[in-house]
Amino acid sequence: MKVQTLLTVLAAVFPLSSFGQNVSTFHNPILTGFHPDPTCVFVSELDNTFFCTFSSFLTFPGLPVYASRDLINWKLISNALSRPDQVPALAFLPRGATSGIYAPTLRFRDGKFYIFTTLANQALYNDNYTRWDNFIMTTEDPYQSSKWSDPVHFDFPGIDPSPFWDDDGQTYITGSIDGKAILQAPLAFETGEVLGPLIDIWNGTGLPSPEAPHMYKKDGWYYLLTAEGGTRERHRSIFARSRDLYGPYEGDPNNPVLSSYLSDSYFQAVGHSDIFQDQHGQYWAIALSVRAGYSYNFDPYNSIFPMGREAVLTPVQWPENSWPTFQNVSGLMTGAFTLPLPPSPSTVPSEGSGPLNGANDTINFEPGSQLPAHLFHWRLPKQSSYAISPAGHENSLRLTSSVLNLTSFDGDSTRGQPQTFLARRQEHSRFRFGVDVEWAGLLTREGNEVGVTALQGQAQHFDLSVAMLKANGSDELAPHIRFRGISTTTYRLPERFKYVDEAWALPEALQGEKVRLMVEAVNTTHYAFSAGLGGCEEESEMKVYGYARGNYLIPYYSGVVVGAYATSNGRFGEGAFDAYVSRWRYEGLEQVREFPEDQQEVYWD
Ligand SMILES: *[C@@H]1O[C@H](CO)[C@@H](O)[C@H](O)[C@H]1NC(C)=O
Ligand SMILES: *[C@@H]1O[C@H](CO)[C@@H](O)[C@H](O)[C@H]1NC(C)=O
Ligand SMILES: *[C@@H]1O[C@H](CO)[C@@H](O)[C@H](O)[C@H]1NC(C)=O
Ligand SMILES: *[C@@H]1O[C@H](CO)[C@@H](O)[C@H](O)[C@H]1NC(C)=O
Ligand SMILES: *[C@@H]1O[C@H](CO)[C@@H](O)[C@H](O)[C@H]1NC(C)=O
Ligand SMILES: *[C@@H]1O[C@H](CO)[C@@H](O)[C@H](O)[C@H]1NC(C)=O
Ligand SMILES: *[C@@H]1O[C@H](CO)[C@@H](O)[C@H](O)[C@H]1NC(C)=O
Ligand SMILES: *[C@@H]1O[C@H](CO)[C@@H](O)[C@H](O)[C@H]1NC(C)=O
Repeated sequence: MKVQTLLTVLAAVFPLSSFGQNVSTFHNPILTGFHPDPTCVFVSELDNTFFCTFSSFLTFPGLPVYASRDLINWKLISNALSRPDQVPALAFLPRGATSGIYAPTLRFRDGKFYIFTTLANQALYNDNYTRWDNFIMTTEDPYQSSKWSDPVHFDFPGIDPSPFWDDDGQTYITGSIDGKAILQAPLAFETGEVLGPLIDIWNGTGLPSPEAPHMYKKDGWYYLLTAEGGTRERHRSIFARSRDLYGPYEGDPNNPVLSSYLSDSYFQAVGHSDIFQDQHGQYWAIALSVRAGYSYNFDPYNSIFPMGREAVLTPVQWPENSWPTFQNVSGLMTGAFTLPLPPSPSTVPSEGSGPLNGANDTINFEPGSQLPAHLFHWRLPKQSSYAISPAGHENSLRLTSSVLNLTSFDGDSTRGQPQTFLARRQEHSRFRFGVDVEWAGLLTREGNEVGVTALQGQAQHFDLSVAMLKANGSDELAPHIRFRGISTTTYRLPERFKYVDEAWALPEALQGEKVRLMVEAVNTTHYAFSAGLGGCEEESEMKVYGYARGNYLIPYYSGVVVGAYATSNGRFGEGAFDAYVSRWRYEGLEQVREFPEDQQEVYWD
């Protein structure tokens, strides 16, 4: 009887399949959705925990920091950028989703975490180095956003800064410039003072854009890991080494050490990696990849991969004095490796307030609650445009409208003005996202609009809303369901543009009521936008008003986010109206890890 009880308890703590066993199987991506340019560090001092962060571009809060003990279940524990005064310039960045926070490096040293990163302004000319604002942030408590320091800026005329501590205590910065070379200089990490000349240590193996350098010292060698080929189809990881920190570096005869180029894998663009070792001595690499399939090799912007650059894991064998070897990345990883712990969501640290990557949202904006750590704005928010459970509107979020809609003036900049918009990442191939919107008596003027969106950037988004419109030649303003979208990326050749703007008089049953608005990825190629009666605890009957295809939401650097917005579409000033959203739900329905049949045909209209 007692043995039976003990076994039951053990079975609850350790799932039977993994109890007492070494697990040598896992699925990629390990961090799904918009998580590009990964960088990780293993910290034995903090309970054998892995920590990672990613490029966050225009999102704020930014630089999300995740923690894991099994490398499979990842919990968002803080946002290193959570105070607008850490990055005031973020408000003014144009260039859709290709400016902002780039390629961080996360490291741990003597009780302190360091993030080195760049705030990039892609609208400035190539030769204007003020387009790259490089800085360092530190904390001794990665579990609290508020504990990350203000930035310490340093001069570096490029991107992808990565720190290195040599055995003699000297500290160095290595980074990438002009898409041509890896440069290195001694740098004081406390003050940001550059202590010597920038020296070109590596030009790559001949492909464009040697970048994302990370320096590791092992067996008396300086090992330089870089990315090369640009972040698209030719992207790859390259190794080089030298006995001297300043070179000359010799390339690994097996370069590229990690690549998916010309493979028919669903996982393409593999590269931009970082290496770390777990408590059992196993080395691991984390890298970025897009789930796009073979056509991506020839036609990246006519492929379907709306989630953009995600984070994948692969084991690395690195015997003494030898070059490391990486296993190729696939959806199902098996082989001669052992995960550091049998994977279970119960292994994640209890500290840190965010959810697990891939978790569902059940957000009710209860009185006294905060915005969850994984929700974010596009650039800096106007804080007063958001209020949780204001009097008379308990269990809802007030959105005070912005003048700007999600397209803004030109699908690019916002000239420092805010957009009232709260979003989260699409983390599943198939998902359902919805909110109830309260609009009746609140939206009173023409163009007042509150809605939900699937957004890749200001020039690529599809929205479903309740909007006040005069339609069909009528002079009378009336609430409508509006489906509107824009897709104008210039990266696509031949250029294919898409605009939709359709409206339907609000159905009788929804007049005066809360309206539920939903975005659902119904398969891997199509998003459906639907509306129905809100305010019900049960799922209400939804009617689909429009579809958007994944190939109209093609990422360059980011990935699709879904969220809610309120805008007066260019008129009546900031704060023209208030609307309320409630019952915020996101449900992950399916994770597709093999090239899906339904993507064979990419078509446009
Ligand atoms: C499990 O993995 C550990 C560490 O990699 C190793 O020491 C041990 O021998 C393995 N056990 C089995 C049963 O394979
Ligand atoms: C570089 O950009 C900054 C910021 O926009 C601007 O003030 C400066 O004049 C530019 N410098 C050059 C050389 O173009
Ligand atoms: C990189 O290329 C430049 C220009 O050709 C050359 O001057 C430099 O010596 C090269 N650097 C290295 C480390 O090979
Ligand atoms: C790994 O992928 C690369 C690039 O597609 C390919 O050339 C190589 O043969 C693959 N290696 C293995 C062991 O499958
Ligand atoms: C305008 O009229 C057309 C044709 O009758 C109808 O399909 C459409 O839904 C109407 N639009 C609005 C906003 O009422
Ligand atoms: C967005 O707002 C601008 C004015 O700021 C307006 O010109 C434009 O039509 C609106 N809608 C879209 C989809 O761009
Ligand atoms: C999220 O919700 C869906 C649909 O209800 C469910 O199938 C799935 O298991 C949930 N995911 C998690 C991680 O709980
Ligand atoms: C995906 O869903 C869309 C919208 O319902 C549909 O038109 C398309 O045929 C579906 N694709 C497949 C392969 O089922």
